[in-house]
Amino acid sequence: LNILPTITYDQTPVHVGLAFDSVWNLVDERTIIITDSNVMAYWGHLLADRPTLVVPSGEDQKSLSNLEDMVFRLLAFGADRGSFLLGVGGGVICDLTGFLASVFMRGIPFAFVPTTLLAQVDASIGGKNGVNCGPFKNMVGTFNQPQFVLTDPQFLSTLPDMEFANGLAECIKHACICSAAYFDWIETNLEGILQRDRALLEVLILESVRIKCDIVSRDPLEKGERKLLNFGHTYGHAIEKLNGLAHGQAVSLGMVMANELALKRKMLDPSAEQRVIRLLDKAGLPTDTGLLDRERLLALVRNDKKKREDQIAFILLNSIGQAVIEKIVLHD
Ligand SMILES: NC(=O)c1ccc[n+]([C@@H]2O[C@H](COP(=O)([O-])OP(=O)(O)OC[C@H]3O[C@@H](n4cnc5c(N)ncnc54)[C@H](O)[C@@H]3O)[C@@H](O)[C@H]2O)c1
Repeated sequence: LNILPTITYDQTPVHVGLAFDSVWNLVDERTIIITDSNVMAYWGHLLADRPTLVVPSGEDQKSLSNLEDMVFRLLAFGADRGSFLLGVGGGVICDLTGFLASVFMRGIPFAFVPTTLLAQVDASIGGKNGVNCGPFKNMVGTFNQPQFVLTDPQFLSTLPDMEFANGLAECIKHACICSAAYFDWIETNLEGILQRDRALLEVLILESVRIKCDIVSRDPLEKGERKLLNFGHTYGHAIEKLNGLAHGQAVSLGMVMANELALKRKMLDPSAEQRVIRLLDKAGLPTDTGLLDRERLLALVRNDKKKREDQIAFILLNSIGQAVIEKIVLHD
């Protein structure tokens, strides 16, 4: 695999494997850090007494009412148009920081130090941000790119196993849709990855970041190719809602369901389908779709905001490393 320490997309440099300390060379004294209570507890000692706005951890922080509260807290720090926001945390912090910076005084610059695997390979890349409105995920937000992303794998040493597996689901997704070689590499190195071997984590993150950056730089506003990143997410979002599973677990089951559909349509080879299931299993992700209520899931998929008329764009695999967008009629 091709190893590059910095990948640039849409003029945003993503520094992978750089030690967190280097961040002080990239920001100025007008910087305000945004983080959550868990990251603060584990890694607060790295934040060097900079003004830091700490929110409780959890998805329910991604709300408009919390955002208003954060605006007042920024003002109390003396924030103005010359301020810079640095989000240090998981995907929730990236989404909140990106959105807050995009609308605070009509927009101030921002950057991310992602601290979960999911945020390092996914949420920090691509410029999407936003908050939820009641049950509607990411209903209000913008496309806006950070000034930089600094990804230091040391943060993953304190990440709970289930959160780590959530991120791995996205890495496996990237391999499934874009790179058979990356899929082989994850299969071969999974044991070391699960032990959080730093050198392996750097390759894992780089390869996923490279794939996501390639796709979003060709299709920043999700008009076409970027939809491939939704592999496993069409059913995944519905499973997340209906079964109350964590995002990565739901995406794992969503990928298995998408592959079942591809198998039924004779697009995917049964041996490839089984290979994906084996890898997800070994990564500690759920793959048994037998207990899922398919009718209720389909009803939820029908209500998804990404639905276009009577068709749904499903991402299906032709083979490991090659995905296509298939428009499927709802009663299919
Ligand atoms: N903008 C995008 O393109 C995009 C893409 C994917 C996901 N997302 C969003 O990302 C969010 C999910 O991200 P997530 O899985 O990182 O969730 P998260 O931010 O809630 O982090 C998961 C948990 O890990 C804790 N944590 C973070 N870093 C830690 C560390 N180093 N050690 C120990 N604990 C740590 C957090 O406090 C939290 O409890 C969702 O809101 C989703 O919508 C956005």
